[in-house]
Amino acid sequence: MGRRIAILLSGRGSNFLAIYENILRGKLDADICAVISDRSKAPGLLKAKELGLPSFFVSFKDRAKGEEETARIIEERGADLICLAGFMRILSANFVRRFKGKILNIHPSLLPSFPGLDAQKQAFEYGVKYSGCTVHFVDEGVDSGPIVKQAIVKVFDDDTPQKLAERILREEHKIYSEAIKLVLDNQYVIEGRRVLFKKK
Ligand code: GRF
Repeated sequence: MGRRIAILLSGRGSNFLAIYENILRGKLDADICAVISDRSKAPGLLKAKELGLPSFFVSFKDRAKGEEETARIIEERGADLICLAGFMRILSANFVRRFKGKILNIHPSLLPSFPGLDAQKQAFEYGVKYSGCTVHFVDEGVDSGPIVKQAIVKVFDDDTPQKLAERILREEHKIYSEAIKLVLDNQYVIEGRRVLFKKK
């Protein structure tokens, strides 16, 4: 796999920025070839523009058209890997099949627990003692693809969903770049649901 990544986001873009900074610091050898957002005013998209990265707003009012336009940009820009970083839309089976094995997502819980929205709050209210975050391949389900990497975050008695979310986010910023590196290095096999990394 080459080393060009496209980022899809809808919001503040802190995961995108963490990836960008890890590239600058030499921790991740990759180029961000496109930042695409379904929200024209997403802070993450505005930041990407400020940084001079190729940035694209794509309307998803019509999902099929939005996906087609997104796919066109991804292919034109020659992205090898698509990283969802707070992209608040479920991609169709068609789109996922078109980029099979080339889409990663980050989710703020230890999957398969607490998929979907407000995962940190769901975990907090459930009363788990440990939560965390997961980077996984995207398949046709919601937060359900094979897991590439996870990090554990302890839940304290005096926590709030907000405080827990902040500590999980710090781990997200580390493991997303690590997972991208593992995948770009292409030294893995998928057996069933298990992503296994070959020792170098
Ligand atoms: C993160 O918590 C990520 O796990 C989830 O959406 C949030 C995006 O945050 N998928 P940011 O836009 O990267 O700051």
